[in-house]
Amino acid sequence: MQAPRENAVLVFGSTGKLGRQIVTQLLEEGRTVVAAARDAQKADTVFEELGLRVGYQADKSKGILALEGDVDITNPESLNRPELWAGVSQVACAVGPIFGRLPDGKMGYLDDMTSERVDAQGVANIASALQSVFKDKAKSRETATVLPMTSEADLVKWQRLDDVIMGGQSSSALTLAADGSGAVFSGDLIIEGGGFCGARTKALDLNLGEFDGVALEVEGDGQTFKLNLKTADQEDLPECTFQATFDTLPGRSTTVYIPWREFVAVKRARVDPAAPKLDPSSVRQLGLVLSRFEFNGLANPNYWAGKFSLKIKGGIQGFREPRPAIVFVTSAGVERNAKIGDDETARKADIPIVQLNPGGVLNHKYAGEWAVRSAGIPYAVVRSTGLTSEDEDTDFVLEASQGDRISGKISRKEVARVAVAALGTAASVGKTVEIRRSEAAGDRGKASSQPDLERLFLTAVQDRHRPRINLAPLPAPVPPPKPPTPERTAEILSDERVQAAQAAGRGGRVRSEEETSAATSVTVVGDNRAQVSAPGQNGAQPQGDGDEAVPQNVKEARDWIRSWRASNLERKLPQEEKAGVNS
Ligand SMILES: NC(=O)c1ccc[n+]([C@@H]2O[C@H](COP(=O)([O-])OP(=O)(O)OC[C@H]3O[C@@H](n4cnc5c(N)ncnc54)[C@H](OP(=O)(O)O)[C@@H]3O)[C@@H](O)[C@H]2O)c1
Repeated sequence: MQAPRENAVLVFGSTGKLGRQIVTQLLEEGRTVVAAARDAQKADTVFEELGLRVGYQADKSKGILALEGDVDITNPESLNRPELWAGVSQVACAVGPIFGRLPDGKMGYLDDMTSERVDAQGVANIASALQSVFKDKAKSRETATVLPMTSEADLVKWQRLDDVIMGGQSSSALTLAADGSGAVFSGDLIIEGGGFCGARTKALDLNLGEFDGVALEVEGDGQTFKLNLKTADQEDLPECTFQATFDTLPGRSTTVYIPWREFVAVKRARVDPAAPKLDPSSVRQLGLVLSRFEFNGLANPNYWAGKFSLKIKGGIQGFREPRPAIVFVTSAGVERNAKIGDDETARKADIPIVQLNPGGVLNHKYAGEWAVRSAGIPYAVVRSTGLTSEDEDTDFVLEASQGDRISGKISRKEVARVAVAALGTAASVGKTVEIRRSEAAGDRGKASSQPDLERLFLTAVQDRHRPRINLAPLPAPVPPPKPPTPERTAEILSDERVQAAQAAGRGGRVRSEEETSAATSVTVVGDNRAQVSAPGQNGAQPQGDGDEAVPQNVKEARDWIRSWRASNLERKLPQEEKAGVNS
């Protein structure tokens, strides 16, 4: 039987050391993965070695793998094939330049896959393709009424549940609003002997699995209400519900969005940590409550005895936030490198990778980020700190930051976990984070759980809201600075941090001898001002003076990027930044 291809994640760089981790973990989660590769045969071998196979995995709950060969992201044609995108709803991008030993024995970029061509031009090609492939995809929150409350027939489904059941004297009713726009939950709250009023539905069978939470358009009186929900798992458990609170403004209409994660499992008014996870696909009851208590006996901060009124317009709605259409893995250092520009003093004071910036890699990865951000689709950018050489088995707590201020290390497996988590949560949309392992004593051996990974994004702000946390807007891309002289390069490489990383087997990825058999030529990277960068593992090959020394394909790539930047970025930038982008 042909495996279906629906709601799939298309992975670019799927054969790479990071990409194959992303593929593996997505399949573990049961997702359908389309692995894009330049060479399908190589990809087949890579996946076979990982115990993966095209189609259903041996354990059918472990997802479906499809393979698309001949995908070279530097060639826009190979991205324009409709069959590549069949059934694809999201993209993960983990590509990188290909550095290794060339047939002539020197180190260089294999197959001309320089950072400029892969990280900047290739990623911009993906971003352009996404603009058309995902043009009809929702870019903002969507809502739909799941339980209308605008007719008598709608309200027959509800019943009263006031404190009289436990000897109180409060009373309430759910009635149609006079203007026909919805329903009004109103009554008289009496503290003595009780202190709550409620309206709840009779048995329901609602599948809200496609939503991220519940939305209510309310007009209240300034008090804080509860929305209760009971799922099939709690059907036989009296006094067990999921509860969330929402505030109202006196006499003002507001829409409240309550994501599933804000619902707390409660048993007899106490938080119940042993309760099952909320399963929104089987909602059996919904309820509205005004109570003097929140959870665990804490007082409701916004309630008073006496009359109350809460109008619900339309009814109960479900809402859905867009997930990222693309999760792009780049590198810490790209933003500070753009900020530093030609300031040599600032560069000398920064970490070795920023001092070296081999082949302008940080500039090119940053240009790729800008292409992704400018495409007008929901995105997430995950910037990895220094990758460890192996995926050791020890677990670490992971942490995230914004503004490109941290350095540190992380394994590819961990980066993949964060990238996969980013694909699965709306909380990552529009955000750029740097990630690393926590260095705190005692964090070794502790893994980040799934909610921990989601929290990395929940605590981050969207890029457009950076000033809210006192971060300047992202700097505009700039061309690569002049490479360091050979003397300066030697000095940087002798830095104890570089020595320690090299001793630990870390540093830039260099292809092994076996991987380099397809190598054809070395390419020089840099802008027109670039002179010579030191040969060796961490640097680009010597470069020529001007355009004459640059191969034609690189010139074309450069022209393409410049024109892309001009058309896509210039009009979005403030006037004073334009010079920086196009110079
Ligand atoms: N080393 C560090 O400390 C560090 C830190 C932060 C970020 N990073 C970055 O993390 C990324 C992933 O690292 P990695 O170790 O997984 O790299 P990798 O093993 O070299 O993988 C690179 C992937 O990109 C693919 N690729 C290259 N050019 C392509 C093209 N033109 N079209 C389609 N695919 C192309 C490669 O495909 P093929 O198999 O066909 O060649 C491969 O799958 C890199 O961008 C790296 O720069 C590294």
